[in-house]
Amino acid sequence: MFPDLSDLPDTFVWGAATAAYQIEGAAAEDGRAPSIWDTFSRTPGKVADGDTGDTACDHYHRWPQDVALMRGLGLDAYRFSIAWPRVVPQGGGPVNPAGLAFYDRLVDALLEAGITPFPTLYHWDLPQAQQDRGGWPQRETALRFAEYASVVAERLGDRVTHWATLNEPLCSSWIGHLQGLMAPGLTDITAAVRASYHLHLGHGLAVQALRAAVPQARIGIVNNLSPCTPASDRPEDVAAARRADGHTNRWWLDPVHGRGYPQDMVELYGVQLPERPGDMAAIAAPLDWLGLNYYFREVVADDPSGPLPRARPVRLPGVRRTAMDWEVHADGLEQLLLRLTEEYGARSIYVTENGSAYEDRPGPDGRVHDPERTAYLEEHLAACARAVRGGAPLAGYFAWSLLDNFEWAYGYRKRFGLVHVDYPTQRRTVKDSGRRYADIIGAHRRGRTGPAGCAGSHSAGDPGRASVMPVGRPGSGRRR
Ligand code: FCB
Repeated sequence: MFPDLSDLPDTFVWGAATAAYQIEGAAAEDGRAPSIWDTFSRTPGKVADGDTGDTACDHYHRWPQDVALMRGLGLDAYRFSIAWPRVVPQGGGPVNPAGLAFYDRLVDALLEAGITPFPTLYHWDLPQAQQDRGGWPQRETALRFAEYASVVAERLGDRVTHWATLNEPLCSSWIGHLQGLMAPGLTDITAAVRASYHLHLGHGLAVQALRAAVPQARIGIVNNLSPCTPASDRPEDVAAARRADGHTNRWWLDPVHGRGYPQDMVELYGVQLPERPGDMAAIAAPLDWLGLNYYFREVVADDPSGPLPRARPVRLPGVRRTAMDWEVHADGLEQLLLRLTEEYGARSIYVTENGSAYEDRPGPDGRVHDPERTAYLEEHLAACARAVRGGAPLAGYFAWSLLDNFEWAYGYRKRFGLVHVDYPTQRRTVKDSGRRYADIIGAHRRGRTGPAGCAGSHSAGDPGRASVMPVGRPGSGRRR
């Protein structure tokens, strides 16, 4: 049975997502300069097993095969990120034509395959040279980001309509500058708050740059959000959940909706914002859509002496968890979609990432059986459909991720792909969840995901089906 997806509109966009540093490899090729993630992953102890993105999925060379995989899955759209250090290797200054040419070829191939490109301009790979000049805590980085956005828009804007500026500025700011668990690895609230501010400013200025270069552009920003639930109804825990909500959600949504930064959080952080006249209007540049990345909810208790926002995560017993130790809670996705609609007046939303890591390995039959990921996918798609029924203007869904890839500080240990990657051989194998996703997409196109129209004729992984073929070269290398 398929989940009941009958409320998803006929125009619903079915996609998958990746990010440059996580898949491309070719870290020193064709003029790409190091990013903060090259530096961070080379810093001992920062990334599991000392892994780096040097090779990753070798997508830089294997992109034709990866586009064929997407086509086999029946995707309408592909969300990928453009590596700033390929295009403007020093952050500012000379443009690298070979870097632009790579994305140019990719966009052409996607369009030829009938797949709409959804590039994201920044998915965490700041050029190291720009970091050396101060990185996101400095205003200059926002200005350089907008220049880089112009360069990309001028090259691809004749073919690319859908653009995202930033991916998850929360992670860049809080995890990268406050917790130190991602690049650039700082633990400084002043740097973190200033980084968040300049990321927002860079976003706003990039929106202006994109609009100037691509009049028909449909522009959004991608935030990772989590419902924040108090662990008890004690007033202290309720207040902690409000702080967690400010830290995780309101800080990222309010300014881009013209509401300024939430005052309770400004006071909690105790850092003066580096605001100049006109900035808040730039940050609130009108958008065409909101991107929501959803993975888990937060359940928190008061923690007065703990780290900001002084709300301690509480581990609920008896809940399902992924290999990331993240709770599986599909209702949270429905809640967030409705909140964006009701509280923030969203007119168009894409789920720009959603997915799960499990410890997959190919079985003796050569297939990857991942029933937990399939269940996760179906539950979250059902949550999307419920949100649409409740009035959310949800336009599409991008599974995270197309491929197993470099999962930041976890290196290659965590596999999120619909497609398994055997790293030593780079062989790609569509997992059962990927086959199921293809089936759901096909059934939705044929109008067959309603409560009655969903019998087992589309069962996952029908070996006779032609549309999803594992693509890849059988190799002789070692399996991780
Ligand atoms: C998100 C990131 C993405 C990936 C998933 C699992 O926070 O945007 O790159 O790492 O988590």
